[in-house]
Amino acid sequence: MGNIIDGKGLAQKKRALIKEKAITFTRANGRPPGLAVILAGDDPASTIYVRNKKQACEKTGVHSYDHHLATDITQGELLALIERLNDDSKVDGILVQLPLPSHLNEKEILLKIDPAKDVDGFHPYNLGRLLMGDPALMPCTPRGIMYMLQEYGASIDGKDAIIIGRSNIVGKPMAIMLMMAHATVSIAHSHTRDLARKISGSDIVVAAIGKAHMIKGDWIKEDAVVIDVGMNRTEKGLVGDVEFDQAKKRASLITPVPGGVGPMTITMLLENTLIAAQEHIK
Ligand code: GUN
Repeated sequence: MGNIIDGKGLAQKKRALIKEKAITFTRANGRPPGLAVILAGDDPASTIYVRNKKQACEKTGVHSYDHHLATDITQGELLALIERLNDDSKVDGILVQLPLPSHLNEKEILLKIDPAKDVDGFHPYNLGRLLMGDPALMPCTPRGIMYMLQEYGASIDGKDAIIIGRSNIVGKPMAIMLMMAHATVSIAHSHTRDLARKISGSDIVVAAIGKAHMIKGDWIKEDAVVIDVGMNRTEKGLVGDVEFDQAKKRASLITPVPGGVGPMTITMLLENTLIAAQEHIK
């Protein structure tokens, strides 16, 4: 395997541990940890993500409650569903798959989720706690990345990290987590100048842009750690944001697409659900 991070293998190992804890939880509480999964509409990518999440739950001893809603569901109906799930004692986590159909107000929907059940870590309360250095439930993709870096012994303390992408889901929380691990962090985005130069001076590169092969292999510093969050469908299949074959020759560690970050994201969702369940029964 060399310098390629085996996200799939790492996810399997971690999921086995989560499964043991889920079984213990079920024995002690007479019910499994429960995750409500809400999908509004039939977006093909979202449908696949949701199916993968539900399958992962089943294999890990977490019960998933399926809420597949019509595309034309109203804001009021969706808010009412979330309220019911907030009050349902069998439900420990609530996940609303994004993006929502465009007539819905995403901000208001996410705000409605009980922060204690916010297993995606998208609620302003949970993002605020992360920002303050006192995290509770954290967003799954950056948490999965931190887990991978730690498991592979990547050194973070004092390193120069660059994150390309400034979303609330990946870029911003990733920056906070790397900063908490004592990296010096830059966030690059569509207005950033001299991206190639900035990347070539960085020890850790996290690409979360959503543009196939936008980060060129020869921009990567020798022995850098490269994490590719991109999942871009092209005629050549699923590819990341980084030119993998070229970057691999320079990086000390690099994630493949698929089989890198993706499996870890779902694993952290399962772990967040278990954490929420354990807090819930206290
Ligand atoms: N859409 C893209 N990524 C995610 C995610 O991690 N969680 C949810 N709920 N929706 C998404």
